[in-house]
Amino acid sequence: MSITKAIFPVAGLGTRFLPATKAQPKEMLPVVDKPLIQYAVEEAYDAGIREMIFVTGRHKRPIEDHFDTAFELEYELEHAGKMDLLKTVQSIKPADMECVFVRQPKSLGLGHAVLCGERLVRGEPFAVLLADDLMVGTTPILKQMVAQFDELQGSILAVQEVPAEHTKRYGIVAGTPVSERVMAISKIVEKPAPEAAPSRLGVAGRYILTPAVFEQIRSQPRGVGNEIQLTDGIAGLLNLEKVFAYQYEGKRYDCGSKEGFLEANVELALKHHQVGDWFRSYLKQLKLD
Ligand code: UTP
Repeated sequence: MSITKAIFPVAGLGTRFLPATKAQPKEMLPVVDKPLIQYAVEEAYDAGIREMIFVTGRHKRPIEDHFDTAFELEYELEHAGKMDLLKTVQSIKPADMECVFVRQPKSLGLGHAVLCGERLVRGEPFAVLLADDLMVGTTPILKQMVAQFDELQGSILAVQEVPAEHTKRYGIVAGTPVSERVMAISKIVEKPAPEAAPSRLGVAGRYILTPAVFEQIRSQPRGVGNEIQLTDGIAGLLNLEKVFAYQYEGKRYDCGSKEGFLEANVELALKHHQVGDWFRSYLKQLKLD
């Protein structure tokens, strides 16, 4: 079975980015010239996924508009002969990509957001991408994971090694190695203190999950922060099925934090085909202390 659907939970409040996120979704913040959500959707598309399921909340209209036809804008660009820009705008949603939107009525947590996509997933394994984790790899990260899924046919979480003092920011996994980059998970804990963390492998915002996870999310009590946690649902899944951790090849920018967002902007600007060279010289001539 292959992965054809992805859930993008975009209903969080984005409080770490206030005031920027007061009236606009965090996922529409641009890194250089593209909103975070577009990077994530492109990653899913590159992994062969064509059905994009957005779990939205209030203030999320701009995401729907971003993946819709902008008739007036396209008309103006065409008549002004700005064909490159027209192509850029039209390529946001390729013709074979389907976008569906479902509301999460209250920000009750990531697990709850994923549950809101249950009916649309129609009993198939699916991907979850958190757009505020901007992931960059020579092979897109989700594509690496789909290749692993083709072999393992089980749930897979993207993981990376994190500094001991940061375990409190992640779901942390432990288990037994299966191959160089894959581990069979025996334990998963949400945001443990360093002394309680079973390892230093933290879960990044990319998952492939089997539909059995939904019942597990539903049956768990409220978790850390009184939220319905995806991690707790996955912990339940461990009792039923094998769940794997995959150490991806690439880099993650935590764009839900100001620091990660700034890093992403600087590093992607340096690589940008239009402004990269200019930005490099600009940085060089800056007289930093
Ligand atoms: P975060 O933990 O980053 O929460 O959510 P947040 O509310 O977006 O941001 P802060 O912490 O207040 O700054 C991780 C992902 O899960 C989604 C968010 O949109 C983000 O993509 N999410 C979280 C939901 O869709 N619903 C929720 O109830 C919680």
